[in-house]
Amino acid sequence: MPDTVLYEKLDGVAWITLNRPDVLNAINLQMRDELWDAVHAVRDDPEVHAVIFKGAGDRGFSAGADISEFGTAPSYVEARRARRERDLWGFILSLDKLTIAAIHGYALGAGVELPMCCDIRIASEDARLGLPEVTLGYIPSAGGTQTLPRHIPPGLAMQMILTGEPIDARAAYRHGLVQRVVPRDRLYEEAETMARKVLAHPQHAVRLARRAVVEGLDLSLAQSLALESRLAGQAARSVDGRA
Ligand code: COA
Repeated sequence: MPDTVLYEKLDGVAWITLNRPDVLNAINLQMRDELWDAVHAVRDDPEVHAVIFKGAGDRGFSAGADISEFGTAPSYVEARRARRERDLWGFILSLDKLTIAAIHGYALGAGVELPMCCDIRIASEDARLGLPEVTLGYIPSAGGTQTLPRHIPPGLAMQMILTGEPIDARAAYRHGLVQRVVPRDRLYEEAETMARKVLAHPQHAVRLARRAVVEGLDLSLAQSLALESRLAGQAARSVDGRA
């Protein structure tokens, strides 16, 4: 079976490519397994400090979970097992390294839920982002009902989830779902530039600041301020050479 995920490493940056362009990079169980391995490779390689996710082909980042695997008993059981044993989305969220999604064309269902587990999303002008699950009788289950309202206003998130209608790159930018919109032919260059900008800074500070943001979002303000204070202490000790 051909690889559904490609993994490359270039000067500290890993590139993970969803690679089923004939079916708009739909995420089947094989791709999930291969993503799981690729994200482990990122986590375990001390030479890798950032990862950029992208989709192969002209038409999109990913059109979401592979619909052709829906509704068959073995697939349903398999999918439940895979989800229980391998929380891919939680794993991406918990990575202690910079994560960027470079999104073009269709980014639907899990194809936008994966980017929403990343730190930064850069889109090309042709991107269309949406959660169409309800139109098929499902609900988003790669985190989308929880991550989308953390990225954009809850009312708009609710509208997107309940209507299933995608928004375009400009609207996604206006509402903060993506942090930059660039011409299609500059997408990967811009994603890499963003990664290199972050990698140019002291990495202990990047890691601690990132942790403060990611972990703090799930805490009360008082708890998150205490967390920041602890992490700031660690950063200061590193600068002083005491940690
Ligand atoms: N799972 C499996 N295959 C998919 C897919 C998915 N999520 N999305 C697209 N494909 C396949 C199509 O079946 C088609 O395969 P074929 O050429 O063998 O027939 C190929 O990708 C191209 O898609 P097609 O539908 O012909 O392109 P289009 O331009 O007419 O429409 C979309 C593009 C994205 C609007 C349409 O493919 C679509 O709605 N896909 C499903 C999106 C979705 O609901 N995702 C969430 C799943 S929970």
